[in-house]
Amino acid sequence: MSELNNIVLKILENGKGILAADESTATMTKRLEGVNVNSTPENRLLFRETLFSSSSMTKCIGGVILYDETIKQDSSKKKSIAKLISEMGSAPGIKVDTGAKVLAGSPDEKITEGLDGLRERLKDYYKLGARFTKWRGVYNIAKNYPSKLSIHSNAHALARYSALVQECNMVPIVEPEVLMDGEHSAQDCYEKTSEVIKRCFDELILHKVDLKGIILKPNMILAGNKSGEKISNDEIAKLTLKCLESSVPSEVPGIAFLSGGQSELEATENLNLINKHNNTNFIMSYSYGRALQQSALKFWSKDTKNIEGTQKIFNHRAKMNTLAAQGKWSKDLEN
Ligand code: G3H
Repeated sequence: MSELNNIVLKILENGKGILAADESTATMTKRLEGVNVNSTPENRLLFRETLFSSSSMTKCIGGVILYDETIKQDSSKKKSIAKLISEMGSAPGIKVDTGAKVLAGSPDEKITEGLDGLRERLKDYYKLGARFTKWRGVYNIAKNYPSKLSIHSNAHALARYSALVQECNMVPIVEPEVLMDGEHSAQDCYEKTSEVIKRCFDELILHKVDLKGIILKPNMILAGNKSGEKISNDEIAKLTLKCLESSVPSEVPGIAFLSGGQSELEATENLNLINKHNNTNFIMSYSYGRALQQSALKFWSKDTKNIEGTQKIFNHRAKMNTLAAQGKWSKDLEN
């Protein structure tokens, strides 16, 4: 088994998932100001360190995606954040794209940037302790979107990124996120997501990426949030599985979903149903940002010194999602 495949299996073993704590400073500022906390480097670190030293880091969280600022920070105990995470038994990871910018030629769409100088940055991140990375391509569904241009150019960037990451002995998370914003139906989401993922794998194969050494981070198949369409959680799970079964090559060991604006409960319930219906060999787990942190952040914002109370809330969410990643969650466990 390759070293990269081992890293993937370790991150996702026994229902473990990934904590996506890689919000850029601008996004984290939005989150903190949303709960009336000043967005200073100290406050960003304090909240994140509170999560990274929780007991669920050992039992439920196999990997943490960090942002550039955080991987270079030291904990209150004067050790690097990456060291703190690995001592808790989890793998430190790093977001390496530099964000989605307007796509020339199709200004209503985005292309993710960050390839220039990436090889050198990856070496630095490896030295800082990172063992996996993340790059997010983003696509919106509307009448003529996502366009071929956006599908092709983002897939190309994801593949070039993945090849460089594997060259540096790290596992790339490949994240093509088809947004839930919009009036589209679940069927539209199914069709567009399938097309996007298939194109990503065409490019990954062309760029000689070892598919056993990646984690795919897709969206679930949902109806657009302005569509008014009501679709059951069971239907979401079935459509999501149908999409992935037909568009992801069987060599890929693990799939870790993004939450993408679903509520904490929805993200857990849908993951649980996906695992209940899963007849594939793919590990189906989570790589959640908002759906793991929202309640903990709200609680913490009221008393930033209440570390234990904040950790209790985070531990609960992590545990619920780890159960869902094994199809063992039920609503009554939430109380
Ligand atoms: O790129 C997106 C994040 O890593 C996951 O965030 O679960 O809040 O969508 P989310």
